[in-house]
This record gives sequence, structure tokens and C-alpha cells, in this order.
Amino acid sequence: MRFLKLFVVFVFMSISLSAFASQPEVKKAKTVDELAAMYDVSSCKQCHAKIFEEWEKSIHSRSLIGSPRTVGGIQGAIKNWISFKHSGVKEAKDITVDHWKTACFKCHLPQIEDATDEVAAQIAEAYVKNDRATLAKVNINCLVCHNKMAVTHQWRDGKPERDTVYGTKDGTHMDKMYKNLKKSSTMTASVMCGQCHQGPLIDRPATTQCSTLFGSYLNAYLPNGGNKTCQECHMKEVDGHAMFSFRDRNYSDPAMVKRALDVEVDAKKGYKSIELPNLPPAAKVIVKITNNAGHRIPDG
Ligand code: HEC
Ligand code: HEC
Ligand code: HEC
Ligand code: HEC
Ligand code: HEC
Repeated sequence: MRFLKLFVVFVFMSISLSAFASQPEVKKAKTVDELAAMYDVSSCKQCHAKIFEEWEKSIHSRSLIGSPRTVGGIQGAIKNWISFKHSGVKEAKDITVDHWKTACFKCHLPQIEDATDEVAAQIAEAYVKNDRATLAKVNINCLVCHNKMAVTHQWRDGKPERDTVYGTKDGTHMDKMYKNLKKSSTMTASVMCGQCHQGPLIDRPATTQCSTLFGSYLNAYLPNGGNKTCQECHMKEVDGHAMFSFRDRNYSDPAMVKRALDVEVDAKKGYKSIELPNLPPAAKVIVKITNNAGHRIPDG
């Protein structure tokens, strides 16, 4: 009888403890298709058509395929990992979520955390086979920025909630799945972009230097009096969610290219050197280049 009582108390305790878990644990995706479904943004198109079209042009919408160099770059990384003695990778299918998170997908596909190792292996094999249809299924989309990456101060503000999109105000939201709208101070700050446009990553077993732009923004642009955010230059002043892509052959905005550099050339011809009078007259060319971007260019 005493044993039964203890058992009852134990069962009661475990029920009440599980009731404390604030968010139900979301099941991890087991296939690339499941991961794509978990981050499905087809509903957003109905009401945010213009933003959706802009985003589709952006390189973020193809973050596993990226610039003409991205697929080759990641295929090269996979070859390296196979050749490295301590990587734990003997063939592409050994690549786990942990491998991807440590290296490339921290930025190229942060939602890999919500998938199983089977998905990690499936994507690695898609790279090896150059299967771009599979690589195109997942990307940096509305929900990656407006949910997963939308809260940087999580000890203060908590983790992003499943049913919420984060933007610049609080309220209700008309989407069937994402019913709440919450203000996040991250969204309008440069750190939003800096989460991925940063580097080198030297705090991990596979050091990566892919993008270093945020450091240049913090250490060169701001101290020299720059006062704009990434969003102001890249979203508000020019092409919204298309976020001009310098390396993309399909989409680049001439207005943005024009804003990058001022080049002044002052050329004078016919100087004769007094020291070396036998030389033909030389030209004197003074070129002044001013970088108007908020960081070094090119990056990477
Ligand atoms: C049925 C229409 C509808 C759908 C579907 C919808 N939205 Fe919205 N969304 C709105 C409206 C309307 C507002 C403006 C709400 C307001 O101003 O109070 C809004 C606001 C937002 C904002 C906040 C903008 C700000 O001011 O900061 C974000 C972010 C957003 N939506 C993202 C999304 C994403 C991501 C999806 C897809 C998962 C989506 N929306 C689907 C109608 C919709
Ligand atoms: C810290 C975030 C981050 C990590 C980690 C990262 N990347 Fe990138 N990657 C970027 C960003 C941001 C760009 C766009 C660069 C730019 O234009 O500034 C990019 C661009 C690229 C490009 C295109 C470069 C070009 O000149 O066209 C390749 C290739 C690439 N990444 C491969 C990789 C590989 C391989 C890994 C893993 C070994 C990796 N990346 C890890 C953020 C990252
Ligand atoms: C790379 C990150 C990123 C992606 C991807 C992204 N957004 Fe945004 N979005 C932002 C940021 C940052 C802002 C806030 C800009 C500001 O106000 O400074 C914003 C602003 C907005 C706004 C409010 C301002 C406006 O222009 O009306 C809406 C609505 C919105 N996004 C919807 C979407 C939808 C829908 C998608 C997918 C089609 C999407 N976003 C994809 C980063 C992103
Ligand atoms: C989740 C990570 C992530 C976030 C957040 C993010 N980016 Fe990116 N961005 C990338 C990656 C990865 C690429 C490059 C893909 C490639 O070339 O392979 C990229 C590419 C770009 C490019 C094109 C670069 C080129 O060389 O063509 C621009 C511009 C850009 N991002 C601006 C922004 C801005 C502005 C923000 C903030 C509003 C932002 N990004 C937020 C990961 C991110
Ligand atoms: C003062 C305006 C300004 C600010 C602030 C700014 N950018 Fe840029 N950025 C530009 C211009 C102009 C270019 C075009 C450069 C070119 O054509 O080579 C550019 C280019 C880029 C590129 C492509 C560069 C390359 O060489 O691959 C990326 C990625 C990018 N910016 C991201 C960011 C991010 C992230 C931030 C914030 C940390 C930011 N930018 C802040 C103006 C700005």
C-alpha cells in the first residue's frame, strides 16, 4: 500500500513537472521536405505580395545555391572534411547537424538545428550530386528572419515563439499559423544582419572565414562617423527585401552599384622630368576613390 502511495505521488509529480514545460517540444524534421514545410512561407505571399517578390529575387531565397561560387565552395568544404582525420566524416552521408551548424549552415541555413542528422546527410549528398532541386527547397526566408533569428537578447526577451512573427509593433496578425505580431528591437538594428554577415568564426573546431563585413561596419564605418544601419542602406533606401546582390548575375541593382564608389580622376599630360630630361614626357594621373558603403568592399 505504501508502495502504491509513493507511486501515485511520483506519477502526480511527473505530470505537474511536465505541465511546467512552457513550450511543447517541436518534433525535428526528418526529411528536407519536412524542414521546408516547417518553414513554409507560401501563405505570406497572399498579403505581402510585393515583399515576397522582392525576397524571391534576393540571394537569401537561394542561400544553399547562392552566388555562382557557393555550391562549388560547399562541395570543396565537404571534400576537406572527408580528408580531415579528426572531422568524423568519411563520406558525405556522415555529415551531421552538428557539422553543418559548426561551419557553413550557421549562416547559410540556420534552421538546420530543427532537423535530424538524416536531413543533414540528405543535404550533403545533394551537394555531392549537384542536385540543385533539393538544395532550392530550403533557404533564408521570411520565417528565418522574422522568427528564428528575430530575437538576439534571449535571456532578456525569451526565445522566439512558434505562433508569432516579429516586426516593429505588437498586435494580432491575420496569418492562420502565425497569429501574433511582436515588436523585437533586433529587427531594426544592424545586429540582425550581423548575426550572419560576421566573421571570422574562431571559437569553434572548424574555423571559417566567409563573411567579415559586420566587423568592418563596427570598427571602421561607425568610428568614422557613419550612422546608418544595414537596413537603412539596403532595405529602406533602395530595394527593400531584394537586398541587392553584388555577386548575383541574375539580380543586381544599378542604383546600388552607383552608390558604392565615387571615383575622381585628374590626369595631366606632358610633364617633363627635370631630373631625367632624356625620358619622354610622362602623364600624371591622380585617382581618388571614396567608398560610400558602410563597410569594406568587396567582402568575403
Ligand atoms: C491574411 C493576410 C496576411 C498573411 C497571410 C500574412 N500577413 Fe503579415 N501582416 C498582415 C497585415 C495586415 C499586417 C499589418 C498588421 C498591422 O499593421 O497591425 C502584417 C504585418 C506583418 C509584419 C509586421 C510588419 C511591421 O510593421 O513590423 C510581419 C513581419 C509580417 N506581417 C510577416 C508575415 C509573414 C512572415 C507571413 C507568412 C508566414 C505573413 N506575414 C502572412 C497580413 C498578413
Ligand atoms: C558567419 C556566417 C557564415 C558562415 C559560417 C559561412 N558563410 Fe558563406 N557566406 C556568408 C555570407 C554573409 C556570404 C555573402 C558574402 C558577402 O557577399 O559578403 C557568404 C557567401 C559564400 C560564398 C560565395 C562567395 C562569393 O564570392 O561568391 C561561398 C562560396 C560560401 N559562402 C561558402 C561557405 C562555406 C563552404 C562555408 C562553410 C565552410 C560557409 N560559407 C560558411 C556567411 C557565412
Ligand atoms: C534577411 C532577413 C529578412 C527576410 C528573409 C525577410 N525579412 Fe521582412 N524584414 C526584415 C527586416 C530587418 C525588416 C525591418 C526593416 C526596418 O524597419 O528597419 C523587415 C520588415 C518587414 C515588414 C515591415 C516593413 C515593410 O516593408 O512593410 C514586413 C511586412 C516584412 N518584413 C515581411 C516579410 C515577408 C513576408 C518576408 C518573406 C517573403 C520577409 N519579410 C523576409 C528582414 C527580413
Ligand atoms: C540567416 C543569416 C542571414 C541573415 C540574418 C542576413 N543574411 Fe544576408 N546573406 C546571408 C548569406 C548566407 C548570403 C550569401 C549567400 C551566398 O552567396 O551563398 C547573404 C547575402 C546577402 C547579400 C548579397 C551579397 C552579395 O555579395 O551579393 C546582401 C546584400 C545581404 N545578404 C544583406 C543582408 C542584410 C542587409 C541583412 C539584414 C537585414 C541580412 N543580409 C541578413 C545570410 C544572412
Ligand atoms: C552607408 C550605406 C551602407 C551601410 C550602412 C551598409 N551597407 Fe552594405 N553596401 C552598401 C553599398 C553601396 C554596397 C554596394 C557595394 C558594391 O557594389 O560593391 C554594399 C554592399 C554590401 C554587400 C555585398 C558586398 C560584397 O562585396 O560582397 C553586403 C553583403 C552588404 N553590403 C551587407 C551589409 C550589412 C550586413 C550591413 C550592416 C552591418 C551593411 N551592408 C551596411 C551600402 C551600405
